[in-house]
Amino acid sequence: MGHDADMEPGPFTPLRRPPGMPPAACLIWHPSYETGIERIDEQHRSLFALHGDFVHAVERGGSIHLLDSMARDLIRYADLHFHDEEEAMARFGYTGLDRHRTLHTGLRATVARLDRLPQERTSLLVVAEFVKLWMREHILVEDRDFARFVRSGAT
Ligand SMILES: [Fe+2]
Ligand SMILES: [Fe+2]
Repeated sequence: MGHDADMEPGPFTPLRRPPGMPPAACLIWHPSYETGIERIDEQHRSLFALHGDFVHAVERGGSIHLLDSMARDLIRYADLHFHDEEEAMARFGYTGLDRHRTLHTGLRATVARLDRLPQERTSLLVVAEFVKLWMREHILVEDRDFARFVRSGAT
């Protein structure tokens, strides 16, 4: 599948940030995130925006009702994105589809635990940080592996 040995997916292995990518509580778009597949890139940008809105709302002291509805929006959009991405993978006959689907399901299961967390801002920020790191690594390694697969078939 073309992963470098140090990029093999472990349970969670934080990536080194590519040069020029700023550290932040939110995900900030950077050319490294581009897969070159327009629909996927657009959805990733929207996920970054929803995640950023959520983090800012937590930091600004938004009501639990607001935070809850924002978290649900983020989860709903992530579900839509995962579904679209998996559908595109199936269409292209991507060999890593099953593995990729398992990764999506794993994040979904983790985020679903949000409901069971005490409704404290610190816990919400911890989950938001986990989602940020997960998305960063997932896009840079896994989604881009699919993009490479698509490109290699297109030549
Ligand atoms: Fe993905
Ligand atoms: Fe993705």
